[in-house]
Amino acid sequence: MKKFVTALALAGVLATGATAVLAQQNVIEARKDLMKANGQQSGVLTRMARGTDPFDAAKAKAAFDALANTYAKFPTVFPESSKDGDTRAMAAIWTDRPKFDAEIAKAAKNVADNRDKGSASLDGLKQAVAVIGQDCGTCHESFRKPR
Ligand code: HEC
Repeated sequence: MKKFVTALALAGVLATGATAVLAQQNVIEARKDLMKANGQQSGVLTRMARGTDPFDAAKAKAAFDALANTYAKFPTVFPESSKDGDTRAMAAIWTDRPKFDAEIAKAAKNVADNRDKGSASLDGLKQAVAVIGQDCGTCHESFRKPR
């Protein structure tokens, strides 16, 4: 009986361990997907700002909304348990969390502050892209491992 209980307990531990690994990988995938979306949305804005694509107010607005959505979710996809794995997240995210959270907040604020201007005119969009694009680089420099 004791052996049976131990076996059950062990199975439980193993199952929990497997779930934890899975959850950790899922959260890493989730943040990569959010960032991929950031890449796509800023691509939409940059192509319009450069004149590669025609300026389209509705498209610009949608891209700003998507960026805002990413930054709203971003703070939730870096639990302590997701430090290791197939990720380029730097340890500094967890050793200097207040700075990382401040970078997210700054990027989110710049998206919110530039949304109206950036979807009103081509000139406004050019200015907006310069501001929000800078936040990508600043954060990656401190918190994303180079390839
Ligand atoms: C607050 C910090 C922060 C900001 C701001 C930020 N990123 Fe990231 N980004 C990261 C981190 C951290 C990773 C690494 C995630 C991982 O590998 O787990 C990343 C990864 C990426 C990736 C690679 C995703 C993949 O497929 O692995 C792309 C593309 C990207 N970011 C684009 C952008 C763009 C474009 C912007 C600006 C519009 C931006 N990021 C703004 C922190 C940030």
